[in-house]
Parts: sequence; structure tokens; C-alpha cells
Amino acid sequence: MGKNIQWELLDMAAELIDGKALAATMREEIRQKVAELKAKTGVVPGLGVVLVGDDPASRSYVTAKEQALAAAGMHSEDIRLPATTTQEELLAVIERLNTMPEVHGILVQLPLPKGLDEAAVIRAIAPEKDVDGFTPVNVGRMMIGEPCFLPCTPHGIIQMLLRSGVETAGAHAVVIGRSNIVGKPVAQLLARKAPGGNATVTLCHTGTRDLASFTRQADILVVASGRPNTVTGEMVKPGAVVIDVGVNRVPCEGTKTGYRLCGDCDFDSVAQVASKLTPVPGGVGPMTITMLLENTYQAAIRTLQEQS
Ligand code: GUN
Repeated sequence: MGKNIQWELLDMAAELIDGKALAATMREEIRQKVAELKAKTGVVPGLGVVLVGDDPASRSYVTAKEQALAAAGMHSEDIRLPATTTQEELLAVIERLNTMPEVHGILVQLPLPKGLDEAAVIRAIAPEKDVDGFTPVNVGRMMIGEPCFLPCTPHGIIQMLLRSGVETAGAHAVVIGRSNIVGKPVAQLLARKAPGGNATVTLCHTGTRDLASFTRQADILVVASGRPNTVTGEMVKPGAVVIDVGVNRVPCEGTKTGYRLCGDCDFDSVAQVASKLTPVPGGVGPMTITMLLENTYQAAIRTLQEQS
């Protein structure tokens, strides 16, 4: 509530895309589907949630995911491992989750502590339980348009654009960031021939020369650089839609935690120029978790279909 009041006080042109409200609507839809599934079949969709180490940001993301699962009536198999966990120990945990019938999806929170081979860990997840959409099998299927689990943050961004009435077809979408989790897959989804796609996509990254010359051409700008203030108002075309994927903790005196969250955009100056903008927090983050719930539900449905 307090945050809304702050936003209203700002002299801004942009309409905020309220990820929290969109997510709440979708989570209620999912909760109802889960209740129906349980009533009809007795099956409760379940997610194995693996957190290795004690990174505070990762811990808070995982807690939020587990709370959302519980609120949607789903089961979560919570696994906390120390930062000293070996590769073999972690692979053994994944192998066990791969074979547990009550676990339909597996999520290993990234990044993993140093010394663990992230790519090998992802490869160990059974593709039919890969609700993050990170395994090579799912990434490949997405690239060629086969049925697959779409990665949660990119999928959440497309849902936000669709549900807030942003026309992507024929638009020039500029993505900043080439990570496997956000940049590369969101560029792919924006370009594919499907609702929320059909855009002309430019993918910018740390090697891009004169970033502003690209961002100023964007009708839709997706900022996933992982760095505050990557995009300021003068880098945005008037009327553009800006999706800020960043979640950065910046030191802030006078708060309980000693920090505040900000995105990858300079919110105040971008809000003067954009037509729509996602806030941080309360924008992309809640949608990411919502798509994880949806994928876990879908994983349970697919398991049932294979059994019948
Ligand atoms: N770390 C940051 N985003 C994600 C995500 O979507 N899934 C997992 N597993 N780890 C992450």
C-alpha cells in the first residue's frame, strides 16, 4: 500500500504493469485447477525445491516459491543442503527426486555455490520434471517449437505483455542480457510465431557498442542486465513498454534490512518516458513464481496422461 502511494506521488507518465495483481489472478486460477485435480484423481502436484548454501537472496526466493506452492494447494519437498555439499551428493539428491512419484517437478535454485558444476547438475534433472525449462532437452524443444516447459521468468514476461494488452506482433523488442535464464529465452519467445511473439528482436549484451542507439529503437524493452541504472530515461523511446527484470539489493539507511530493492532501470527517469513499466519489486518477480506453479501443475497433468 505504502509503495502505491509513493508511485502516485511521482510525476510520471508510465502506467505500471502490476505483476503482483496479475500474479494473484493467475495463482487463484491455478489454485482452483489444483483443487479440481485433487478432487478428481487424488493427485497433488509436487515440486522438489533444492537450495544449496545460504545466499540470502536465494533463500528468500526459495521461501517465496515454497509459500506460493502451499497457497496453491501444492506439495513441496524442501531440501536444504550446506554450501559444502559435493557434486556427487547433489547429483544423488536429484537422482532421488527424479524417481519420487509424488514429485512432479524439480527446482534447483541458481546460482549454485562455487565448486559445483551447474551445467552438470541441470543435465541430471529428468526433462519431464524440468519445470524451470533449463535442461538441454527443454531448451532445444523450445527453440524448435515443440511442447516443453518454458522457463519461468521469460514465460512470465510474455504473460504480462499479453495480459496487459501490449501488442508484440510487428514490434521491435530489444532485450538487454544474454543469460540462459532470461535474456536468450525471452528473445526466443518474443520472436516465435505465437501469441506474445512475432516481434522483431534485437539481443544486446555487455559487448554491445552504443547500447542507447539500440534501446532508443525499442517499442518493447526488456532489461535483464543484472546491474542498476543500465537504462535511464534518455535511453528510452517515448511511449515504449519497459520490462525491468532486475532485482538488485542496494544499501539503504533507515530500512529494517539495511537495503532496498531496485531493478536494472532508473525507475524515476524511465517512468517519465515509457508508456508502461514494471516496478521492482512487484513486477516480473511474482510472475516468475506464478509460472513455476503453472509448470508444476502441467508436469502433474502430463504424468497422469502418460499413466492412462
Ligand atoms: N535463479 C534466478 N532465477 C531462477 C529461476 O528462475 N530458477 C532457478 N532454479 N534459479 C533461479
